[in-house]
Amino acid sequence: MSLPDLAAARIRVPRDVPADVEVHLFPLAEYQFLLDSHGHLLSPAEHDRARQGHSPEIRLLSHVLRRILLARRAGPAAGTSLSRTEDLIVVALAGRPVGVDVEKQQSPEQSELLLRLLHPADQRRLRGRPAAEVTAAWTRKEATLKAIGVGLQRDPGLDEVGTRRRPRAPLGWQVRQLTVPPAVGAELAVAWRD
Ligand SMILES: CC(C)(COP(=O)(O)OP(=O)(O)OC[C@H]1O[C@@H](n2cnc3c(N)ncnc32)[C@H](O)[C@@H]1OP(=O)(O)O)[C@@H](O)C(=O)NCCC(=O)NCCS
Repeated sequence: MSLPDLAAARIRVPRDVPADVEVHLFPLAEYQFLLDSHGHLLSPAEHDRARQGHSPEIRLLSHVLRRILLARRAGPAAGTSLSRTEDLIVVALAGRPVGVDVEKQQSPEQSELLLRLLHPADQRRLRGRPAAEVTAAWTRKEATLKAIGVGLQRDPGLDEVGTRRRPRAPLGWQVRQLTVPPAVGAELAVAWRD
C-alpha cells in the first residue's frame, strides 16, 4: 500500500527555525484511520511496546505517523520527537536533535501548578499572566528537555524559558513557540540543537 501524503499536517514555523526542522500537527479524529490502513508499518514488538503505556491507540498512531513521515522525508532525519494530548499528535523531524511539546490549554489551577515548577525568573515574569502564557512557557520547557534527551529527569526549574517573543534555552539549544489555530486550543513549541 502506498504511503499517504501528510503534507497538509505540516505547520508553519518562524523564519529563524532551520530549514531541516519540520513539525506536523495531527488532530486524532482526522488521522485515526491510518492505524488500520498502515499499522503494519510497525513491527509486532513495536506494537507491543506502544500498547504498554496509557492511551495505547494514540501512542501507536503517533509512531505510525512518525514512520510514514520518515519514509517520505527527502533529507536524513538525525532527530525525531513526539508529543501527544488526548486528541492531538505532534511529530517533529530534523537533521539534528529536536524536541517538541504540545499541551492543551490548562485551567488556571493547572497552570499554577506548572508555574511553580519553572525557573524562579520565569515564575516572576509569568505570575498573574493568563494561563495560556504559562502553558506556552511549559511547552518551551518540555520541548527543550526532550531535545536534550533528558526529559523531566532534569529539574525543570534549572533553566529559564524566557518569553514567547524572546525564548531562552540552555547554551547550544534554541526553542520557539509555534502558532496553532486558536480552534485547536493548544500551545506548541519546538526546540533544536544550534
Ligand atoms: C519527556 C516527558 C516529559 C514527556 O512527557 P509527556 O508530556 O507526558 O508526553 P508527550 O506526549 O509530550 O511525549 C511523550 C514522548 O516523549 C518522548 N520522550 C520521553 N522521554 C524522553 C526523553 N527523555 N527525551 C526525549 N524524548 C522523550 C517519547 O517519544 C514519548 O513517546 P513514546 O514513549 O511513545 O516514544 C516525560 O516522558 C519524561 O521526562 N519522563 C521521565 C520523568 C518522569 O517520568 N517524570 C514523572 C512525570 S512528572
